[in-house]
Amino acid sequence: QASSRPAEEAAAKQGGGLLLEEGGVFSSIPLVQHQNFWISPELLKSVQLVQEQFVPRADDIILATFPKCGTTWLKALAFAITNRSGHNTLAHHPLLTRHPQDAVPFLELPNRQIHPIADLEAIPSSRLLATHIPLSLLPASVAAVGSRVVYMCREPKDVFVSKWHFENKVSEKLFVELGLSFHLFCEGAAVCGPIWNHYLEYWNESKARPDKVLFLKYEEMMADPVKEVKRLAEFLGAPFTDTEERSGVVDQVVRLCSFDHLTSLEVNSTGVADRIGGFPMENSTYFRRGKVGDWVNHLSAEMAQKLDCIVQEKLKGSGLAF
Ligand code: A3P
Repeated sequence: QASSRPAEEAAAKQGGGLLLEEGGVFSSIPLVQHQNFWISPELLKSVQLVQEQFVPRADDIILATFPKCGTTWLKALAFAITNRSGHNTLAHHPLLTRHPQDAVPFLELPNRQIHPIADLEAIPSSRLLATHIPLSLLPASVAAVGSRVVYMCREPKDVFVSKWHFENKVSEKLFVELGLSFHLFCEGAAVCGPIWNHYLEYWNESKARPDKVLFLKYEEMMADPVKEVKRLAEFLGAPFTDTEERSGVVDQVVRLCSFDHLTSLEVNSTGVADRIGGFPMENSTYFRRGKVGDWVNHLSAEMAQKLDCIVQEKLKGSGLAF
């Protein structure tokens, strides 16, 4: 179990707290502050392109997440729900041979210049799209035209642990000692962080416009996937019929998209793909343990308490809690 002290000492050695460098912050990924969020310079350019060029449609469905909250799972589920007709037994479903990351494209990409936003125009309605962009940085036209948003959040300690492993796996260059990485996360310094701001914006919107923003929790999905998948299907405008329920289609969708099943497929467990241009990653990188509460294997009680207190304080009065 790690302690947060070395992190604070390391950070302090770098100049007291976070090392600010040319307006950026010392982290595994260089970050700049933009409005209320930390973001990498490349991603900021992409967000600006989205703001300038993305043309939302009324029937778009945008799957929004803070990174490592279960984006891959949500992509698989939304895709399976909306592409189930013609795949009655799901025995020949496209997800058996297509990585969930490829089933639903991201609005933003670090180099959207290579994958132009115009590519999204070619997708027929209704489109399933994904994003990590904070709500306040999405183009105002998304709400104006009435696109629907599905947001999935996750217990922040598990998000941190997942993110730390992911960054280590993706590149040795991104390695930051766990304690220091934790310290930065607690300061809010993570891509699209602070995590609590990201959660709160979508949470508040889901309360204000429940017909347009559905707010899901990873832990609730894990605890009762059938119930949550039915809720998701209704929101997506593709509710399961009584006949489908009776013939076990909901269970089939849940099973198709389960961690165990997805990781058993060759398309998700082998091979390398470069989805963002110049950054090849193993297809398995998006799957690690898929458990609730894995933080306990990586964080000390002291670290857990620290992040819990910060999150509690930041979410106070919102009605959102973990
Ligand atoms: P862990 O690192 O805790 O295992 P994202 O897709 O947003 O990058 O999130 C990745 C996290 O979701 C990882 O968490 C990963 O294992 C988990 N995950 C991926 N597919 C999943 C699934 N089908 N069911 C549950 N969790 C899944």
